Amino acid sequence: MTHPTKARAFAGATVGNVICGFDILGLALDNADHHLGDTVEVSSRSDTGVIIKSIHSIDSGIPTDPSKNVAGVAAMAVLERSEEPETGLEIEIWKGLPLSGGMGGSSASSVAAAIATDSLLNTKLSKQELMVCALEGEKLVTGSMHPDNVAPAIHGGIVLMRPEEPTNPIPLPVPRGMSLALIHPKLELNTKSMRAVLPDSIPLAEVTAQCADASSFVLGLFEENWDLLKKVLVDRIAEPSRKQFVPGLDEVRSVAVSAGALGAGISGSGPSIFALCQDETKAVRAGQAMKQVFHEMDIVADLFVRPIAQTGTGAQLLDLN
Ligand code: HSE
Repeated sequence: MTHPTKARAFAGATVGNVICGFDILGLALDNADHHLGDTVEVSSRSDTGVIIKSIHSIDSGIPTDPSKNVAGVAAMAVLERSEEPETGLEIEIWKGLPLSGGMGGSSASSVAAAIATDSLLNTKLSKQELMVCALEGEKLVTGSMHPDNVAPAIHGGIVLMRPEEPTNPIPLPVPRGMSLALIHPKLELNTKSMRAVLPDSIPLAEVTAQCADASSFVLGLFEENWDLLKKVLVDRIAEPSRKQFVPGLDEVRSVAVSAGALGAGISGSGPSIFALCQDETKAVRAGQAMKQVFHEMDIVADLFVRPIAQTGTGAQLLDLN
């Protein structure tokens, strides 16, 4: 029997926190066209060791040392769990997501690398084990194993993670048509620094209110209760200390809500901002208004309007040969 020599996988853009669930809620953007995400190809090679063969990205400065590259680290984590950990690997990366953009770019590369390596080596890791390997990559750049990008990148949909069981995400219902407008100003905010600005403690009343909003968000999804969802998209944990680094946040939110969005806030650790909307028509309207704000601030920004991915439509193996 011949072994495969090459595997290619794709993982898409995600939004961490979903405003009211710092580190515990995440969602995936619909990615049926494979346009908004990262693709990683892993090939076996005759020498031992892992190398990054090439990186295709409009951003410069992505490390080619595999121990400093999220895809390299995730691939090595899978390799360590395989029956032949001495196998040599060569990795090629196509970055469709911006670096430090708040769109889950490091998770997408980590997840795609873990899936491609798993298929190539036939390790048959469970989704839970793949998450552990991808989180090793995520930790490298963000300094933390927060699961709210990796989990939706793997599973699709909207997911909730209990910190006690971070690799066992709970899928939440995605109301039919629910969409988002995500605007990415061409600025970088790296998650590690944005985590460093967070407070060590939060006043009890704020925590209580946040728990109530996160729980109500979950109920709102189950009931498709738009009035409830409109009230609970509030972030009292991260936004107060991060908003100074996210240009236009208040104004973008205000125009998005006026245009019909349920709410808007920082995507992950920023600088992208997203508006959650009942349907795609409202998301288009909100997105146009959001883009206008950046235009008036003279900040170049890319707008993406997409439905939320349905549960189970996460990262994919593209080919194995
Ligand atoms: N929960 C993470 C954070 C998401 O806010 O730091 C980063 O994308």
